[in-house]
Amino acid sequence: MTDDALSNLLHEERRFPPPAEFAAQANATDALYAEARADRLAFWERQARELLSWDTEWTQVLDWSNPPFAKWFVGGKLNVAYNCVDRHVEAGHGDRVAIHWEGEPGDSRTLTYADMQREVSKAANALTELGVGHGDRVAIYLPMIPEAAVAMLACARVGAIHSVVFGGFSAEALRSRIEDAEAKLVITADGGYRRGKPASLKPAVDEAVAASTSVRNVLVVRRTEQEVDWNDDVDVWWHDVVDRQSDQHDARPHDSEDTLYILYTSGTTGKPKGIKHTSGGYLLQTAYTHRNVFDLKPDTDVYWCTADIGWVTGHSYLVYGPMANGATQVMYEGTPDYPEPGRWWDIVEKYGVTILYTAPTAIRTFMKQGDEIPGRRDLSSLRVLGSVGEPINPEAWIWYRRVIGGDRTPVVDTWWQTETGAIMISPLPGVTSAKPGSAQVALPGISAEVVDDAGNVVPDGHGGYLVLTEPWPSMLRTIWGDDQRFIDTYWSRFEGRYFAGDGAKKDEDGDLWLLGRVDDVMNISGHRISTTEVESALVSHPKVAESAVVGASDPTTGQGIVAFVILRAGAAPDAAGGSEIINELRDHVAKEIGPIAKPRQIMIVSELPKTRSGKIMRRLLRDVAENRELGDVQTLADPTVMNLISEGMSSSS
Ligand code: WT7
Repeated sequence: MTDDALSNLLHEERRFPPPAEFAAQANATDALYAEARADRLAFWERQARELLSWDTEWTQVLDWSNPPFAKWFVGGKLNVAYNCVDRHVEAGHGDRVAIHWEGEPGDSRTLTYADMQREVSKAANALTELGVGHGDRVAIYLPMIPEAAVAMLACARVGAIHSVVFGGFSAEALRSRIEDAEAKLVITADGGYRRGKPASLKPAVDEAVAASTSVRNVLVVRRTEQEVDWNDDVDVWWHDVVDRQSDQHDARPHDSEDTLYILYTSGTTGKPKGIKHTSGGYLLQTAYTHRNVFDLKPDTDVYWCTADIGWVTGHSYLVYGPMANGATQVMYEGTPDYPEPGRWWDIVEKYGVTILYTAPTAIRTFMKQGDEIPGRRDLSSLRVLGSVGEPINPEAWIWYRRVIGGDRTPVVDTWWQTETGAIMISPLPGVTSAKPGSAQVALPGISAEVVDDAGNVVPDGHGGYLVLTEPWPSMLRTIWGDDQRFIDTYWSRFEGRYFAGDGAKKDEDGDLWLLGRVDDVMNISGHRISTTEVESALVSHPKVAESAVVGASDPTTGQGIVAFVILRAGAAPDAAGGSEIINELRDHVAKEIGPIAKPRQIMIVSELPKTRSGKIMRRLLRDVAENRELGDVQTLADPTVMNLISEGMSSSS
């Protein structure tokens, strides 16, 4: 972000205090902050008693004797799936809708909590029959269908560890994740619907498991009925194996610190990190934040989180948080603009959605399409709007509140990460006077600060790095199989504090403004992709000698991927100014990582700007990609390189 844009942001003067009627009925009050400040661990303990059902109480709230390896609710036992499903049925809410599912082609399904209990039990019995038990890893590669939630909860029920891989990731990305976790089972589908067409999933799984030594079975849900290749030794249909199981299953308690799941996310190297989350603390913080940040009233609200289940938002705010709270929610399979741009608003109207949780990219896309499309629908059921994934610019925030929220609803900008497991910084909708563009304050029970390079807390009105200063219940416990990388990545930059990788500023009121990543991680439409990952994908192409990738700011997607590529000798660009090779390279990246990693722009260059020690100066490339005047080029080994690149850029765009 440029300094001008930043100071504009910080001079944002509009304030939106909670409406009095909203504040009067809100779950969370001001008192939570005081309670948590007085005794943080006692605060979490009270939340754990009130929000979850435990089979055995813990003996210690937090064991931080071996930092940064935390244990929460030590000795406590619970079953996560029981907490998310069965206990709501036992409390008399079996008929409450858990999921209003909407397929992209317009088909729909309704699952009550009693239905969920039967489905999850059957799937848990099927896992047992397939030889999957406590501690085994299960890769889940599914479209947005109810079976995705059922499969995750079935794993939780038997104590198996799921590793959900976003359906838009490539066979290669899936393969490396299966291998890293040594998954025994893969749960997938023939395909899912995207933009009106069935998109296949099974062929990618076939490719990913072909040489696997760990995978014993592939369990396949039939969704699109497209043709699939079948390997009788490995493949089994969900409807053959799950449907015939008993719908009774005894949910045994598991340890609070048993691993619930692994979720891979991009780091600053090419190898994705398997973020490990455990059971008790994770479920607690997702339930607590879901209840207080969205003001959930399980009897009357209809909640809709638009994230895909393949991302952490889908894990924490589609499956675990909402279901632990017994929420009624909407789950939508497809794209926002199919069959036409008003599809989401039709869904809000159809189900009477009261709480909507989505990403700034989507909001900016709708904003571009104008007020008329949502204006034609009845959105008056909405009462809380949430945003997540990247900084939301004040204009998009204001538009969201005015056009979608009818100038009435609180908007909560929620900051968190795959690693934090749950929301950490956010306004509380009945308490906080909202400031467009700022995530504002750490939630009760959470401790965040902004520090300078030396690790000193900066005064109000200054910027630096965001750190978390105390352990929190849903924190990652480690990187799967790599404790050292866990220590190095998060706990070594600032002694005793968690380094989030984000720049942040505190304004004169002490409110926090998140300013984006300070490392080589890009944020594309709220999805994290590392520059190194895309660079490795590019150089794995036989025609590429070297590449450098930067995230350039983009009015819709937050950042867009811009790649600078040096071709190998002999791979000269074609007459069309290299467009053929550029398309070939974009497709290659999509094949290696997934379509979300396709560069927005690829520049064929003859040199890259490097320091004398050979480090690529991405800062300068970002200046070029964002059409800015070049910053300091003094440290370049060859300062003339930038002239060549800038010239190439203007002649090709
Ligand atoms: C990164 C985490 C958390 C679920 C989705 C992304 C950025 C996230 C915000 C926000 C500014 C945000 C940060 C963070 N981010 N939410 N409200 N304001 N930035 O999860 O893929 O783990 O990415 O997303 O840069 O570090 P993720």
